[in-house]
Amino acid sequence: MSSLHNNELFSVKDKTVLVTGGSRGIGLMIARTLVENGAKVYISSRKAAVCQAVAEELSKIGNCIAIPADISTAEGRAYLVNALKEQETGLDVLVNNAGANWGAPFKDYPESGYDKVMDLNVKSIFFLTQDLLPLLLAKASLEQPANVINIGSIDGMRVSTLDNSAYGVSKAAVHHLTKILAVKMQGKGITVNAVAPGPFRSKMTESMLDAFQKQVEGVNPMKRIGMDGDMGGIVVFLASRAGSYVNGAVIPVDGGMHLLSMV
Ligand SMILES: NC(=O)c1ccc[n+]([C@@H]2O[C@H](COP(=O)([O-])OP(=O)(O)OC[C@H]3O[C@@H](n4cnc5c(N)ncnc54)[C@H](OP(=O)(O)O)[C@@H]3O)[C@@H](O)[C@H]2O)c1
Repeated sequence: MSSLHNNELFSVKDKTVLVTGGSRGIGLMIARTLVENGAKVYISSRKAAVCQAVAEELSKIGNCIAIPADISTAEGRAYLVNALKEQETGLDVLVNNAGANWGAPFKDYPESGYDKVMDLNVKSIFFLTQDLLPLLLAKASLEQPANVINIGSIDGMRVSTLDNSAYGVSKAAVHHLTKILAVKMQGKGITVNAVAPGPFRSKMTESMLDAFQKQVEGVNPMKRIGMDGDMGGIVVFLASRAGSYVNGAVIPVDGGMHLLSMV
């Protein structure tokens, strides 16, 4: 039996990773942790100047490259995939993180909002993963799998009291898509898992947390919102040797909040 020490067991050093939506919020938390731990991290988001500036900032501590693209469109995904293929022959880890929310009461929920949420949160994961399969397969093996890590939400596990019904639908779809892909990848040496965050401070949650952070923390079993290291930690685990036998899982990272019936 071989022995593995922590620095080997949890290592992501020299892994090539793509984090979509890596320019801010949860994606940036994940990208920064991966860069700090020696991975070569590509980040992608729509606003090119921001994406570039964040990559330059992270490059001061490690290796980070920006590929700006709108992955909610087929053209944007094609651009991203081609740009990555020009620079890499393989991809160890794909973090499908970019996501959007749309708040409106159910009776007034616009079709445009529904489409925006579903196109980015679900369809882009489906097709980006499909398009990046050749690169993932190039790094895949049953002992050292390549990893697809989808960022879902606890809103896909239980019904939020917020007016964001399409978002909850999209995140439940992300969780089930994760399980479907884990099975479809059988024998290929690629794991597919989802992480379901609870509330973290980001542009997406800023106004909600500005109004309700104390109440949200009050009902959370851990009495706090998510913070730096919480999302990076779970992604490092899943991307390292330590997580290589975890497959098709939906892992809440929420202090236990998904266990509550309402927020
Ligand atoms: N924050 C939370 O509490 C929380 C809880 C549960 C789940 N989540 C999930 O975590 C993920 C990240 O959320 P966040 O809170 O960090 O949101 P955020 O602060 O709004 O960040 C979203 C990121 O995605 C990028 N993005 C948005 N639309 C895009 C598109 N069409 N193509 C490419 N990139 C795009 C954004 O950059 P550009 O605007 O420049 O494109 C940004 O980098 C999402 O999937 C979200 O649903 C968040």
